[in-house]
Amino acid sequence: MSVHGKARKITTNTLLEMKEAGEKITMLTAYDYSLAKLVDRGGVDVILVGDSAANVMAGHDTTVPITLDQMIYHAQCVQRAVERALIVVDMPFGTYQGNSKIALDSAIRIMKEAAGHSVKLEGGVEIVDSIKRILTAGIPVMGHLGLTPQSIYKFGTYTVRAKEEEEAEKLISDAKILEEAGCFAIVLEKIPAPLAKRVSESISIPTIGIGAGPDCDGQVLVLHDMLGITTDFSPRFLRRYLSLEDQISQAVTQYCEDVRGKDFPNEKESY
Ligand code: KIV
Repeated sequence: MSVHGKARKITTNTLLEMKEAGEKITMLTAYDYSLAKLVDRGGVDVILVGDSAANVMAGHDTTVPITLDQMIYHAQCVQRAVERALIVVDMPFGTYQGNSKIALDSAIRIMKEAAGHSVKLEGGVEIVDSIKRILTAGIPVMGHLGLTPQSIYKFGTYTVRAKEEEEAEKLISDAKILEEAGCFAIVLEKIPAPLAKRVSESISIPTIGIGAGPDCDGQVLVLHDMLGITTDFSPRFLRRYLSLEDQISQAVTQYCEDVRGKDFPNEKESY
């Protein structure tokens, strides 16, 4: 708590301090005002406006189709709700790869139009020029290594990454490159737990794991997955805290029954 009694805002420095103090960092996704408000009030440290919005909000099979305008719209909705958490906005596919000027322009749009606090980019050495250029504008950057869903057409599958020595060595090297470039944290997605431990111990910036075992400095899940709204996705790493799919379906069925049976609205619910 601050001296004014309000919850202290989380910054990139807070996350570094948490790693140094051995405190675990919590991160969840959000894409809209109402749920972002609940997530922020629930006390999560970082809210990711993830490009997983392409899947859970728009129903696409991959994260590839979502546009910068759509990400900015989601980030604007989230930003209006959040008082405490650090907001990270995913840069969508095609807005940062291969051209650092386009990357900087895209990141500036996210910061100016959506009032995001930082951006996240997928990849290692291949995108380090874009990361460095974004950082020159004072925009904090989170990295993302391991399974990088925007590259699904290269991998061909969403299975665990970096099981082989060569890919594991590249991932360790990429993590160091991102740290040296100035990233404030790195998401490690779906890699073996011992590798995630090794990376977390070998860099000074926090690692945030998803399917990367218990030794990352923090954990992230997709909100709709952990709330049980999306039930067709059940990877081993996912812990479901609610089964909202059932509860919401039951509520909708009950509502239909009440209306059709002329039970709703009753006298008290009428003017
Ligand atoms: O878009 C997303 O939700 C993500 C998380 C899986 C880390 O990038």
